[in-house]
Amino acid sequence: MMRDMADGHVYSLAESERWLQEHIDVRSERGFGVWCVELKSNSDVIGWIDLALPDWFPALLPDPEIGWFIDQRQWAKGLATEGAAAALRVAFDELGFERISAICKVENVASARVMEKIGMSFVEERPHPRLSFPLKIYVITLEEAS
Ligand SMILES: CC(C)(COP(=O)(O)OP(=O)(O)OC[C@H]1O[C@@H](n2cnc3c(N)ncnc32)[C@H](O)[C@@H]1OP(=O)(O)O)[C@@H](O)C(=O)NCCC(=O)NCCS
Repeated sequence: MMRDMADGHVYSLAESERWLQEHIDVRSERGFGVWCVELKSNSDVIGWIDLALPDWFPALLPDPEIGWFIDQRQWAKGLATEGAAAALRVAFDELGFERISAICKVENVASARVMEKIGMSFVEERPHPRLSFPLKIYVITLEEAS
């Protein structure tokens, strides 16, 4: 599941706890951040959807980016698409953003497909700001989403 995330390494428990605390802090500072994804049928936590300012990729600022991470046992059921579409609605309708990006590794066909299915358009490939591989950038504007 981590293969196409940043440098691809699997987090230790301590790193996971730090990641979670950072996102809790960001949510309280900015008023938006990571949502937990629960299955409607039994409330199991099966991943997250993220709306974040991409501080790690300054060229994309000030627009936020959205991202997703779903338990492999639940892949290909449309769940990332459902959650991402809901996140876009919050970003445009409640938070007032006018343009949203999404970023994936070139090989991450499933993630790019989620971007396409929620109406985003491929813009360009750019080098990762810190790592030695290219990234695909997708964008959707408020006008396109309306
Ligand atoms: C990317 C990810 C969130 C997608 O989650 P998901 O719930 O399976 O996504 P969905 O079911 O909503 O849609 C996936 C789409 O990709 C397609 N897809 C999946 N794997 C594919 C592949 N190898 N080649 C082509 N299409 C693929 C599916 O068929 C589906 O498209 P369709 O509805 O047109 O058939 C999931 O794979 C994941 O968590 N990956 C690990 C973390 C990650 O890479 N996150 C994104 C970082 S940018």
